[in-house]
Amino acid sequence: MAEDATDSIAARGPRHVAIIMDGNGRWATMRGRPRLFGHHAGARRVREIVESCPEYGVKYLTVFAFSTENWKRTQAEVAGLMNLFRGYIRREARALLANNVRVRFIGDRVRLDEKLIALMDELEAMTEGCSGTNLTVALNYGGRDEVARATQRLAEDVARGRLRPEEVNEETLPRYLDTWVLPDPDLVIRTSGEARISNFLLWQSAYAEYEFVDTLWPDFTRAEFGRLLHSYSRRDRRFGAVRTAAGGAAAR
Ligand code: FPP
Repeated sequence: MAEDATDSIAARGPRHVAIIMDGNGRWATMRGRPRLFGHHAGARRVREIVESCPEYGVKYLTVFAFSTENWKRTQAEVAGLMNLFRGYIRREARALLANNVRVRFIGDRVRLDEKLIALMDELEAMTEGCSGTNLTVALNYGGRDEVARATQRLAEDVARGRLRPEEVNEETLPRYLDTWVLPDPDLVIRTSGEARISNFLLWQSAYAEYEFVDTLWPDFTRAEFGRLLHSYSRRDRRFGAVRTAAGGAAAR
């Protein structure tokens, strides 16, 4: 990447990037292979993109690995994906730790199997002290489901007198979301040519910039990631405000 592009990303690049990794199935079908072959190729790309984050100054990376709707896939594909997630955690734990990556999982754990939950807990605990990239994996995640679960917890606090109804606002509600420790995403990328957000980070992405690219996820490289970050660094984000004479935009 040219030096001025690298400088532009460093100065004005996104701090938090969220990715809808789509197109694994089509990638595999195009090669006459089973869909799971595409998911495994996709998992290798996750590693490449995570490892590029320090170079690009991306401090938070959130990836959509399995949605609350993905249970509708065939039993064989769901089982294969769960198996892939368990294998991924076992295989990648050491490299993630060595790369100073702090891993978190978001989503509802209720439908996940005990072994997978134990591995997720272990990886979160193991990387708790890491201060480099913050990788968040959305697993059995749905934006509406997250807001509903958050509202349930919030209602319990109201019922117990820990929160007054008039205190429910844009500051307090997100504290109940799975992402409560994370900043909102600055940039959301979706691969595979589909231009929809599929229930991903609905509350958090209210002011995010979007990039929809045709590349299928297993073909998405670090270089393409860099180009999208560069393009973001040239955008003018105003958060609903107008640009001021001083060149800045007041938030909201
Ligand atoms: C969407 O492609 C992809 C998924 C539902 C699974 C995403 C999983 C990975 C990239 C692998 C592992 C990730 C981690 C973090 C270990 P699709 O199957 O819907 O593709 P299609 O639209 O071409 O059918």
